[in-house]
Amino acid sequence: MQKITAAITAVGGYVPEDLLTNADLAKMVDTNDEWIKSRTGISERHILKGEGKATSDLVVPAVLDLCKQRGIEPNEIDCLIVATVTPDMFFPNTANIASDKLDIKNAWGFDILAACSGFLYALTTGAALVESGRYKRVAVVGADKMSSITDYTDRATCILFGDGAGAVLLEPNHEGYGVLDSILKSDGSGGKYLNMKGGGSLNPPTHETVDKKQHYLFQDGQPVFKFAVTGMADVSYELIQRNNLTADDIAWLVPHQANKRIIDATARRMGLSDEKVMLNIQRYGNTTAATIPLCLWDFQGKLNKGDNLVFAAFGGGFTWGATWVKWAI
Ligand code: UT7
Repeated sequence: MQKITAAITAVGGYVPEDLLTNADLAKMVDTNDEWIKSRTGISERHILKGEGKATSDLVVPAVLDLCKQRGIEPNEIDCLIVATVTPDMFFPNTANIASDKLDIKNAWGFDILAACSGFLYALTTGAALVESGRYKRVAVVGADKMSSITDYTDRATCILFGDGAGAVLLEPNHEGYGVLDSILKSDGSGGKYLNMKGGGSLNPPTHETVDKKQHYLFQDGQPVFKFAVTGMADVSYELIQRNNLTADDIAWLVPHQANKRIIDATARRMGLSDEKVMLNIQRYGNTTAATIPLCLWDFQGKLNKGDNLVFAAFGGGFTWGATWVKWAI
């Protein structure tokens, strides 16, 4: 019998209703639509508003959508993995909180924190659980309420981020479909360029950490941009080379949506034309762990069984990676 692979058997997603457009941001900070579009590719983002709303409130509708697509009840999920940098709270983990809201009784779950590469880290982990033969239905969710850690007086970062969640279901497959290879990398020396300093054991919350704005995301954009361009392109190229794939074999590149210029550079390095690149950054901005599953959610109607997909990401840590998936549905 062929070995078990972890196939993606359904995709779900959710973005909140409220929009934050470039025109809205131009009223809040010294920026303009032309600068944002030309430097990033972003036109608008979705923002989760409302008292008491947190990342788990993005996870829940995404998982409900996922279950509807697959025709199962949430309670049939064995394990729920949530990739996020904006958990509802430090603990309990967001997977536990979301499971409670979903009335999931039979699953265990945990969060993975790897910033913009979180979904790839979680997907690789979830796939290993399925490949082991011990778990039949693993839901992998990328979800972030980035608006909760964004400083809306800092024009260098507030134009970039949005809120959302995307989810995939992993199930055993014996025909060679699913997650086939993955290269994941990290380099902690990049931490100084992209981080949130306050709130952890290093800088527990005080009046001073609030005054210093340490509970907001900090990014030194240019070095991150430079590392992202080479990191994402190199790892994607390495992945296709080591699996003897050529550009012709790849149906789609599914890139993390941080900046259209980084995405273009990755596609060029892989020899892929624009038609093979999933892009929705214009509508959602950078939703951190949610970008890749939200691309799958938007583009699933264009995917065919057997398509070779390369997922690629780069983010805080630094963390980065690429994953080869043979589409199963
Ligand atoms: O998802 C996690 C990984 N993150 C990334 O991959 C993000 C990587 N970095 C980037 O995408 C880009 O660095 C940014 C989009 C964040 C910034 O683009 P940039 O081309 O690197 O711009 P910059 O930071 O070099 O700024 C250029 C100029 C500066 O003005 P001066 O010093 O040249 O006069 C900035 O002050 O643009 C100015 N600027 C703005 N102007 C209008 C910065 N932000 C804005 C803004 N509107 N929102």
